[in-house]
Amino acid sequence: MSRALVSLPLLLILTSGCTLPVWTAGEVPFVPTPPEVVDRMLEVAEVKMGDVIYDLGSGDGRIIIRAAKKYGVRGVGIEIDPDLVKRSRDNAWKEKVEHLVEFREQDALMVDVSPATVVTLYMLPEFNKKLRPIFWQQLRPGSRVVSHDFSIEGWPPLRVEKVKGDLFHDHTIYLWKIEGEPSSYR
Ligand SMILES: C[S@@+](CC[C@H](N)C(=O)[O-])C[C@H]1O[C@@H](n2cnc3c(N)ncnc32)[C@H](O)[C@@H]1O
Repeated sequence: MSRALVSLPLLLILTSGCTLPVWTAGEVPFVPTPPEVVDRMLEVAEVKMGDVIYDLGSGDGRIIIRAAKKYGVRGVGIEIDPDLVKRSRDNAWKEKVEHLVEFREQDALMVDVSPATVVTLYMLPEFNKKLRPIFWQQLRPGSRVVSHDFSIEGWPPLRVEKVKGDLFHDHTIYLWKIEGEPSSYR
């Protein structure tokens, strides 16, 4: 997998104040999570046999494919860009995990995440904020949510970890766990 040339936070900084934005408001561009950060996200989420992983905004499928390859777990990638969905399916074939993974062309905000035991994210704060009530309603106790670089407003993380990055920025991994019944959240 190719190394990310630019990170999402850096892209945010570079484009703020630009007259010609790289993406329109509300969209999240494809910026891949570097392999070493993918591995650490899966470790922080304590992925184990039997888990079902959903990556919301799954890009080229790397998180789901890596989880299937390393832990033998099933995964679903939700991606709005059809070209990336196709690329993810091709990558899954190349990595011989096509029997464990599924990639859907869908809006991540419209997805039923209740089958997931682990959800991974590399989305912008506004997007994460919209996902929070969905997680609280749908995820079962014990499920974990792990996010690269962006927190979820109004939900203090259980753990925050730094991963050394390149010249421009270090990566941050956030972890949350659904504890208690969904009705205990507001
Ligand atoms: C920063 S990339 C992260 C890719 C991958 N999860 C990773 O960490 O390498 C965000 C991805 O979300 C996708 N995306 C943006 N809005 C979306 C939406 N509403 N539903 C599903 N995917 C979306 C983009 O096309 C992009 O591929």
